[in-house]
Amino acid sequence: MENIKGKVIIITGASSGIGAATAKKLAGEGAAVVLGARRTERLEELVSTIRQNGGEAVSKKTDVTSAREVQELVDTAVERYHRVDVLFNNAGLMPLSYLRDLKIDEWERMIDVNIKGVLYGIAAVLPIMRKQKSGQIINTASVAGHVVSPGGAVYSATKFAVRAISEGLRKEESPDSLIRVTSISPGAVLTELPSTITDPQLKQNIIDREKFHGISAEDIANAVAYAVSQPDGVAVNEVLVRPTTQIN
Ligand SMILES: NC(=O)c1ccc[n+]([C@@H]2O[C@H](COP(=O)([O-])OP(=O)(O)OC[C@H]3O[C@@H](n4cnc5c(N)ncnc54)[C@H](OP(=O)(O)O)[C@@H]3O)[C@@H](O)[C@H]2O)c1
Repeated sequence: MENIKGKVIIITGASSGIGAATAKKLAGEGAAVVLGARRTERLEELVSTIRQNGGEAVSKKTDVTSAREVQELVDTAVERYHRVDVLFNNAGLMPLSYLRDLKIDEWERMIDVNIKGVLYGIAAVLPIMRKQKSGQIINTASVAGHVVSPGGAVYSATKFAVRAISEGLRKEESPDSLIRVTSISPGAVLTELPSTITDPQLKQNIIDREKFHGISAEDIANAVAYAVSQPDGVAVNEVLVRPTTQIN
């Protein structure tokens, strides 16, 4: 793949699933990856696997609900590699529930991580990328950012928001700052994502759906790598990847 080698790529939520798979993929293509999440042992294990395979990686404990910690993750990249080429805003959670169950704490958590976490990432890299007059911000939406299902109102709201923020960012920054903006919308992917669902029936439905349809985190990593690998003048703005058999 062209145009990945040598890039400095920050990934949030890199301790499992799509983030971890993307870190391995991009490091394997020659990028230096800067990995953030809360579970440091997982991050350290991933960094050591990448290095054993000849790749370049560093990690920093990052809770994306803290603007300061997200800034420190970006500072780590700049101190070590002196630039930021790509931010993959991937951290997210999906505690599905029916609105009538009033799981307000879970609504707030999704808003904090899935929306505010993405905004903190944008805030931390935007001044750098504007100055560089180059860069790419990849935000993780979802098929749930295109369609709404019962039990998914708030999760979908956060992912619709991610798409709106991505589109606004593209229109504001791409023409002059030459920053490429990508919104990636995965369908059912086999990861740890259902682990935050506290409604037993909704949790089982998702686990069953993912067992039946689920594609791998590596399949999404390939889509991210495709978007990163395009020539600088080509911006892949929207990517929607479903398992072939998934309807909604
Ligand atoms: N799997 C799917 O079917 C699917 C479909 C569409 C979209 N997505 C989206 O894909 C993204 C990745 O999810 P995944 O499927 O790979 O699930 P996952 O395996 O559960 O990974 C989620 C990642 O987010 C991190 N995270 C959660 N809260 C965080 C916080 N406060 N601060 C920093 N990191 C945090 C987790 O790390 P720590 O717990 O270590 O912090 C973990 O690395 C999410 O945005 C999700 O909404 C997934």
